[in-house]
Amino acid sequence: MTGLLSAQDVSVRYGSLAALAGVDLCIHDGQRHALIGPNGAGKTTLLDVIGGSTRPHRGTVRFNGRDVSRLGPAARARRGINRIHQRPAVFPTLTATENVVVAALPRVDRRRGWWPGGHRRAAQHRAGPLLDQMGLADVAAVQAGHLAHGQRRQLEIAMALAGRPRLLLLDEPAAGLSATEVGRLIELLRALPRAVAVLLVEHRLDLVYALSDTVTVLRDGRTLAAGTPDEIRTSPLVRQAYADGVS
Ligand SMILES: Nc1ncnc2c1ncn2[C@@H]1O[C@H](COP(=O)(O)OP(=O)(O)OP(=O)(O)O)[C@@H](O)[C@H]1O
Ligand SMILES: [Mg+2]
Repeated sequence: MTGLLSAQDVSVRYGSLAALAGVDLCIHDGQRHALIGPNGAGKTTLLDVIGGSTRPHRGTVRFNGRDVSRLGPAARARRGINRIHQRPAVFPTLTATENVVVAALPRVDRRRGWWPGGHRRAAQHRAGPLLDQMGLADVAAVQAGHLAHGQRRQLEIAMALAGRPRLLLLDEPAAGLSATEVGRLIELLRALPRAVAVLLVEHRLDLVYALSDTVTVLRDGRTLAAGTPDEIRTSPLVRQAYADGVS
């Protein structure tokens, strides 16, 4: 079985630095997989390679049975890979609803330069349930720039879900959140339908252990360990890596 996503032998270099050196990763339909490791381990770089914004100098990415290695981020999003970034990105002067509507619209038809009304209405219909799903129904009409940090994160996830992903890539969704906000995020992510697989990069191990079925630990661009949350939690290698490297 090859899985929904299979990244094989992925290597990325920045000058003399090997950000990734021969990493393999496989994710099955509906799986919750966490990617952890010290700062600079290569976690975001691997998400970039899977999402299509970084071209590895070696390795392949297969998704849903196809080689997507040569496709850019937009083409991969159309095939079902959506992501939120390490730095939050919403439109601050648009309301929460408008942000999700924009994310739910298909790409503009370049020849016509606008979206037909049917597309807009369909996107508007989809926005309400997505905001509800991410716990934002009460603030649907609030400008995104006025939302609390945790709510902006929830909004970004609603926007990523608007693309109807089969694989959702989350880069440190809990960064900067309070303990209460992390608790809320855990509830919301646990409630996501299993039709969506999740690849979660996160330093907050409470979120990692609450959410994931399997965990990969990266260090210095290589896979240090992979296994169930229990196996990872008790691994002396992993403890050592964290003792050495997490800021
Ligand atoms: N565009 C770039 N140019 C040069 N070096 C880069 C670039 N992007 C990442 N790196 C380097 O590649 C290595 C891996 O970076 P990456 O951002 O993937 O780490 P990370 O595991 O996501 O770390 P963090 O937990 O701090 O987010 C680091 O040493 C980083 O400095
Ligand atoms: Mg990172």
